[in-house]
Amino acid sequence: MTFKSSFSATRRDFLLGGAATLGVVAAGGLSMASVIGRAGASENAGGAVNMLLRPGAAQASLVPDPAYQTAVWAYNGIVPGPEIRVRQGQRLHARLENALAQETTIHWHGIRVPNAMDGVPGLTQAAVKPGDSFDYVFDLPDAGTYWYHPHANTTEQLGRGLYGALIVEEADPLPVDRELVWMLDDWRLTESAAIDDGFNAMHDVGHAGRIGNVVTVNGVAPMGTFGDVPVRPGERIRLRLLNAANGRIFALDFDELAPMVIAMDGHPVTPHRNETPLLLLGPGMRFDLVIDIPVSGKPSFAVTDRFYEGMENAIARLVPSGTPLRDHAPDGDLALKPNSLPESDLGQAVKHDLIYSGGMMGDMILSQMIRSGHITPEKLSAMGMESAAGSGMGGMANMMRSMFGAGNIWAVNGRDPDRDGNGPLVTLTRGQTCHLTLMNATAWLHPIHLHGHAFRLLARNDAPVRHQPWLDTVLIEPGDRVEIAFVADNPGDWLIHCHILEHKVGGMSGVIRVL
Ligand code: C2O
Ligand code: CU
Repeated sequence: MTFKSSFSATRRDFLLGGAATLGVVAAGGLSMASVIGRAGASENAGGAVNMLLRPGAAQASLVPDPAYQTAVWAYNGIVPGPEIRVRQGQRLHARLENALAQETTIHWHGIRVPNAMDGVPGLTQAAVKPGDSFDYVFDLPDAGTYWYHPHANTTEQLGRGLYGALIVEEADPLPVDRELVWMLDDWRLTESAAIDDGFNAMHDVGHAGRIGNVVTVNGVAPMGTFGDVPVRPGERIRLRLLNAANGRIFALDFDELAPMVIAMDGHPVTPHRNETPLLLLGPGMRFDLVIDIPVSGKPSFAVTDRFYEGMENAIARLVPSGTPLRDHAPDGDLALKPNSLPESDLGQAVKHDLIYSGGMMGDMILSQMIRSGHITPEKLSAMGMESAAGSGMGGMANMMRSMFGAGNIWAVNGRDPDRDGNGPLVTLTRGQTCHLTLMNATAWLHPIHLHGHAFRLLARNDAPVRHQPWLDTVLIEPGDRVEIAFVADNPGDWLIHCHILEHKVGGMSGVIRVL
């Protein structure tokens, strides 16, 4: 099957009502079978899944109107790229064939891979040149919802469409009537639906990241009936949600559906309803939800993003029809079997702090955190920032100006860790428990992502977090302190960075070294 014919299949799905693009196990409107046929995925005798991923130029119908085509960069010609499905414990052999005109890599977001497979150019491997290939081979230790994306020129490569879902199935999957995978994205398009090429604009780096003007679900903007998902009354749905946007945070309203959260960042969590009415999904983050469609009630249920007040985005509409599948919601435990992650020994933990500062209006928040005692003089002096503490706002502003003069909009412990040549932020020995306090002394939210490990979220602002979920990305609000813990059991140099990709470019990054 050629790229062109698979593309028109996708188009035909739109004309038939569009639901297929939001549909079952079919990111980008392609079934796994067609992906396998076209992309060369196969299972070999040893049980490994083989996959060919070819990033290159392609066309996409982001806006569901045949008059608009968007030139994108895509894996195997489709946005999102092919959904990869493996079973827990299986091996994935993914060959990257670079058909782009620039260097690239693939990072397996959330997967505890060996360091050499982590896809960070200049840290874990050399970037893959145009025309070259690279073989990623690793086992999938954890079941759950993960994804893959480049880690080279990441703002532009992700922003032009390079990403896909990586689903690791449990040995005993939760019994549900169907599964949906929704990869959310946000695009900055011109009036002719072309991608705006102002990547890494200073304003985006110093503010909320590259926020776009068209939100897509599995590569299509839900407009009118294109966002409709026909469902059955009484149906039980497992919804895997992923945020692949450069900068946009989604705050999802599920109407009257009251989803149960069963996993976060891939890892099972005690099934619970979200504490707040809106589910916050920062870039890089995932949620697995169970939704029971009411047996009777509203004719449709809207899923809406309300992060920016007055600027809602439609995500989808679930439209029940047909005879009910059952007369009340099924009983049964929603708890998934936990992945086997090394449990932290907090009594023996080494403690480290990471203070994030900078950005527009950051001096104000930093001063507030110093005044409230959340950032102590000792911590500041450890950051080489004590002069600022003593000299009030004027001194602070001056220090900020000199520190961030060279385009380093953000700082971590007063440093520009990716560029200052001063080595890792934190060095751990293998097996150590690290208790890390992350402090957001900026006026912006930051989803901070750790490579190579999952961590437990322990506390926010000294209050223990309910269920203490395992995460790889934690969203931190302005002025907040978050405590996480993990066992440093995976040797190598691992990035810890803001997944608002423009913030990483502006210096919000660094390495945790595990010896
Ligand atoms: Cu999703 Cu460092 O990446
Ligand atoms: Cu950030």
